[in-house]
Amino acid sequence: MKLYHGTNGDKWKEFYQHGIRPRGAGAPGNFNGAGHPNAVYLTSSMAPAYSSIAPPGDLCGVIEISDRLLNLSLMRPDTDYLNAIADLAVTQFTPAQNHQASEKRTHEWQSSLSVVGQVAYMGRVPPKSFTRVALFPRTVLAPYFERFLTIIDDITFMRAQEIFGECTEYLFSGENPDVDVQDAPSVLQGFKTIRAGVPLEPLAAPLGIDYAKILKRACERFALPCDSIHGPKHWAKVEEIGLRLAHSTGADVDVVRLFAALHDVERREDGEDPEHGQRAAQLATRWRTEGFELHKLDESRFLSLYMACQCHAMGLTSEDATIGTCWDADRLDLGRVGITPSSEFLSTRSAQDGVR
Ligand SMILES: [Fe+2]
Repeated sequence: MKLYHGTNGDKWKEFYQHGIRPRGAGAPGNFNGAGHPNAVYLTSSMAPAYSSIAPPGDLCGVIEISDRLLNLSLMRPDTDYLNAIADLAVTQFTPAQNHQASEKRTHEWQSSLSVVGQVAYMGRVPPKSFTRVALFPRTVLAPYFERFLTIIDDITFMRAQEIFGECTEYLFSGENPDVDVQDAPSVLQGFKTIRAGVPLEPLAAPLGIDYAKILKRACERFALPCDSIHGPKHWAKVEEIGLRLAHSTGADVDVVRLFAALHDVERREDGEDPEHGQRAAQLATRWRTEGFELHKLDESRFLSLYMACQCHAMGLTSEDATIGTCWDADRLDLGRVGITPSSEFLSTRSAQDGVR
């Protein structure tokens, strides 16, 4: 799925260097308008309209983003959509709305895209998920705004989307010589710091999870000998590999670290033990309910952790960046038992590139 983000002036360069940060991060290039402070707003069609806030004379920009590296569990419906369905005059997501959205999961943000053409991504959008950028003078938008103004008295989200959806397509079609379309990989090469791997900052405020406390309790609980091939040494290795992968995959580092500590803690056998993933997911739920550290995870993150633990030994791959990173980190430590993981069992391109 392709999503878009409208920007202006040279601000697109900031995004290419650091990713698109949530509004509350106060980063250069952040739009200061209304919206949830932990969200980046992405759209299927309306980006050209948002890019038009560029001062006259500045270039407008639309960044094309693939969802391949996005954690889809962090997608939320847009506020306009929530207002439209609830007929409430709210300007921010309330906890109740977040809960409602996450209960219905996939479907609410997808509905939001189809109704208002926009979703909120509750975290940072990594530059590696960019596919192209279109840079253009504001004049290119004029015919589309003219059409838009003819419907403004009778505005519907769908019609606005239709007009700017066409505009988005046109911008990336390469038909207008005034529009400079550049492939993200070639632009990213210009930013050597990214190629060297600038550490990603946390998506939001640090969660304050006490990992030492979690590890201590996990070790006390582990039923196999401490030097087991699925024991604490392996957990540490999974954490190390996972955090390294997260630099490029954009995975949620808290979930990766928790997965490392918990995914094998419920093993009762070093050999066949098909239920250990399910038991680990249940243990995580129990600790969260008890208020032991995991209650600091919001529902989206907890869901990712739960899924990652539950299904990690089923031989699956995942398109979700965080879950895929967890599973890849586990599989990339198969070297300890003399197995080189095949790239077809790896989820992320970073891990696949590593084994090729
Ligand atoms: Fe493992």
